[in-house]
Amino acid sequence: MNILIRAHSGLRYVVLGLLIAAIFIAYSNWRKSKDGDSKVYLFALIATHTQLLIGLILYTMSPKVDFSLISEKVFRFYSIEHVFMMVIAIVLITIGRVRSKKLAGADKHRTILYFYAMALIIILVAIPWPFRNLGSAWF
Ligand code: HEM
Repeated sequence: MNILIRAHSGLRYVVLGLLIAAIFIAYSNWRKSKDGDSKVYLFALIATHTQLLIGLILYTMSPKVDFSLISEKVFRFYSIEHVFMMVIAIVLITIGRVRSKKLAGADKHRTILYFYAMALIIILVAIPWPFRNLGSAWF
């Protein structure tokens, strides 16, 4: 359980790094109307899906997921808010990637740019950063 939490916690930076890189690359490729795909789009998708997998396991085991204590901020965050926002973000990334596969040139990269940027904002809001006092750390 502890190893999973540490992995889930550390992977946030991999997810954020890959998403930011994918957004920059998509913007640059869009402006240049470049053909072809970028592996970074795929790596960002894989990293977020890995988080989903670890998150689902944690969701069944974590003492912070408890619907009988939902009136308390920390329990409400992990039982509902965190999972809800993260799943929406991961769905957006998946839709963006699947749609982009069917497109070519500037349209492909613009689709990645929009969907990944929306997902990034949601993920930044849904991360339990230490300053939010949700009982979690930087790593
Ligand atoms: C990109 C997606 C995600 C990111 C970046 C992320 C990030 C994090 C972070 C930083 C923590 C705090 C870890 C700590 O205490 O240091 C956490 C906790 C947690 N996450 Fe996620 N998460 C994601 C998706 C999910 C999903 C989809 C689920 C559920 C299906 C989930 C379930 C949980 C649970 C249950 C905890 C609390 C674990 C505990 O401390 O007992 N996460 N997450």
